Order: sequence, then structure tokens, then C-alpha cells
Amino acid sequence: RNTDSYQLDSHTILYGVIGDPVRHSKSPVMLNRAFRETGLNGAYAAFHVKPEELGQAIAGVRALGFRGLNVTIPHKVEVMAHLDEISEGARAIGAVNTIVNDGGRLIGYNTDGIGYVRSLKEEAEPNLSGKTIVVLGAGGASRGILWALAHEQPAAILLANRTEERAVELASAFSTDYRISAIPWSRLQAACAEADVVINTTSVGMSPKVGDVPIDPSWLKPGAVASDLIYNPLKTAFLQQAEAHGCRAHGGLGMFVYQGAYAFEYWTGAPAPVAAMREAVLQSFG
Ligand code: ATR
Repeated sequence: RNTDSYQLDSHTILYGVIGDPVRHSKSPVMLNRAFRETGLNGAYAAFHVKPEELGQAIAGVRALGFRGLNVTIPHKVEVMAHLDEISEGARAIGAVNTIVNDGGRLIGYNTDGIGYVRSLKEEAEPNLSGKTIVVLGAGGASRGILWALAHEQPAAILLANRTEERAVELASAFSTDYRISAIPWSRLQAACAEADVVINTTSVGMSPKVGDVPIDPSWLKPGAVASDLIYNPLKTAFLQQAEAHGCRAHGGLGMFVYQGAYAFEYWTGAPAPVAAMREAVLQSFG
């Protein structure tokens, strides 16, 4: 392979991300690095698609023969109506972030939750089986993560949300086999004292309000994993304070990298060059 002579030609296989907004997306930088690194003749761009143009955009993918697409806010739910098949995971989560064009059949997947779990296992805690996991937040991000975590056979997943009804509703959407229970926010101190992993899926601590923490990090056991889905900043105040308290910190950048790694692997069948992809994203932060 010759990474210096990388150029588009009439054989280039096309990919992209659709969203509204989409100009902030780091996916093009990350996926183009992956194509370059593996020597595959692919190219990936960002497309600003408004909700009323979603159907036409998907028709365009079919007509132009794009091999794959990532889907971001606000299209992850609505896009499902335009696809030919939805994977079991994406159906359970109720959202699609990755589309594979399999010879004209568009198949929807969700790599966010499994990307998160692969990152958690690679970077912080290889064995989640038998562990007690606390999840903060019951929004869209939480749902995919719960589904993926539940497949790791943890002892229990305790779900807390500021608005308690949302946690109750989300927990009840999963089979009881998954051992996901909603707990009141007021019980979090006691729950965190018993937890091996505490995951923040809320937006608390996201730039620009970088000083905010969702809970008191000193509630965690020293040695436990504190994990945050936020990657701007790379290390939130929650993670910094948990680390100062003796916890292992796991930031959100890995989730972004591995959701893209799974997408790359679904599209190409080749192992994703994860280290290079991560480096590309970090470089683009400047
Ligand atoms: P996403 O799809 O990214 O998960 P979301 O659906 O808007 O986004 O959910 C945001 C999550 O952050 C919710 O769990 C929200 O709690 P509520 O359901 O009570 O709104 C949580 N969140 C936002 N601000 C919060 C705060 N200051 N304290 C605690 N939780 C907060």
C-alpha cells in the first residue's frame, strides 16, 4: 500500500455521515484515515441533511451506490423507516447509526452501544461478567449502552435518572433477564459504594460547563471504574475527581472511535486500524 499516493478515482467506494447539524463531525477525519491506513480505495464525507430531505438522501445512497452511511442526530430513529432490514440490536435500541448497502439492500445497525462496551473492555475493564454497574442517565445514549452492557452478563445494572420515571420506563423496556433495575437518584450514593463501574451518560460536564459533575465522585469505591460518554472535554470533572479519589478513569473518546471501528468493519470486512483512527481524531482536536 502507498499512503502517499492516496487519491479518489473512478473505483473509489463512497461513504458518509448524515446529520443536522453535521459540520462538527469528526467521523470524516477518522474514517478517511482508516481507509488510507488500510490501503482501501474509499472516501467518506459529511452531508447536511434536513429532516424533510431524509428520504431523498437515502434514495440517493441507493442510486449512487454508496457502500455505507453513518447516521447522526436527528435522524437515528426516523431513518429506520427507509431501510430494508434492521439488525436485532438496532431494533432493540430503536435507533440506527450505521447503514450497510449490501448490493442494493440497506441494512441498519447500531454500533454506539457495542462500540462503548468494546472501548470499556479494551481500555478499562476487560471482564464485565458478574460486575455491578451503575448507569447515570436514561436518554438515547443510555439505551444503546444498556443493551450492549446487558450482553456482558453483569450481576446487575442499576439505572438512575434525574427524572425518575424515564429510568423506570427505560428499564422496563428490557427483558428482566437483562437484570436492569431503575433506582431513585437519592439511592445513588449507596449504589455507587457497591459498584464496580459507574457510567455517566448524562450531558453533565460537557463543554462549556466543564466544572459540573453528575454525582459526587467520592461516592465511588477506590479502584472502581468511573466512565463518561463525554469526550469534550476528554477528561470530565467527574473523571478527574474520581481519579483523584483512587478510581480508574475511562473517557468517551473510545466510544466514538469504536462505534466508527465497528462501522468500518461492517462495511469493509477488514479489521479497523483503531490506533490510527484515534490518533486522527485527537489530531483534529488540535
Ligand atoms: P442523550 O440522547 O445524549 O442521552 P437526552 O435524551 O437529552 O440525551 O438525555 C440527556 C440525559 O442527561 C438525561 O438522562 C437527562 O436527565 P432528565 O431525563 O432528568 O432530563 C440528563 N441530564 C441533563 N442534565 C442533567 C443534570 N443537570 N443532572 C442530572 N441529569 C441531567
